[in-house]
Amino acid sequence: MSGPPTNPAQPKAQHFAQKRDWPGYFSVVLGKPPRETLISALDRFEREGAADSRGGHGASLAIDLGCGEGRDTLELLRRGWRVLAIDSHPMALDLLLPRVPTDQRDRLTARVAAFEGLSLPAARLVNASFSLPFCEPAHFDALWAAIVAAVEPGGRFAGQLFGDRDSWATIPDRSHQTEQRARAMLAAFDLEEFRVEEKDDNDATGNPKHWHVFHVVARRRRAAAEV
Ligand SMILES: C[S@@+](CC[C@H](N)C(=O)[O-])C[C@H]1O[C@@H](n2cnc3c(N)ncnc32)[C@H](O)[C@@H]1O
Repeated sequence: MSGPPTNPAQPKAQHFAQKRDWPGYFSVVLGKPPRETLISALDRFEREGAADSRGGHGASLAIDLGCGEGRDTLELLRRGWRVLAIDSHPMALDLLLPRVPTDQRDRLTARVAAFEGLSLPAARLVNASFSLPFCEPAHFDALWAAIVAAVEPGGRFAGQLFGDRDSWATIPDRSHQTEQRARAMLAAFDLEEFRVEEKDDNDATGNPKHWHVFHVVARRRRAAAEV
């Protein structure tokens, strides 16, 4: 939820995210560029010559979990992927759909669904930008297991996990992990990026915010026979 400096009088996106005020959140992030972790993952696929990630009905599938107003989904579509975009707030998809170019619409499936109890199809990429901590803790392990199972060998997970020292870790409905736990969760992946961001901030309305975030790009290991 970082980005260019905002007017100090205006609440930042985190002000709304703390309260799960998603319409408020969407109103301040609408039109922002794709997340760096997504860009990194897509560039890695392209460097590998993943020609099948470029266009057509046979294009690779990416799942965008907690897609919000669609900053990452729009980039995936622009780069030729098929996308299953999932968010529990209908306004997210209402804001996304009209911004999808007409010639890309047949590659997008948009679904209003919650993380809790979600099942996922196999995918080349599972992207979850700043969304996983909002899964109810009782359902988080099942969600993470579904993500790991969904990512095909050689495919990637990109996104953020939130650390135990983050200010929001004490909010009862949030799912945060220690760094040790986050790394253990990624045991089936090679870590291409695991950047720990820890800093003090504020939400521009006088509330301090301590960020403890793990920025992840990880490649699912192939079975030995496939290497
Ligand atoms: C902080 S926003 C991130 C949105 C976008 N991925 C981004 O990078 O800006 C979190 C998103 O997760 C969605 N969300 C929150 N809780 C959810 C849940 N339990 N199931 C599915 N989506 C959820 C919200 O509606 C919101 O769009």
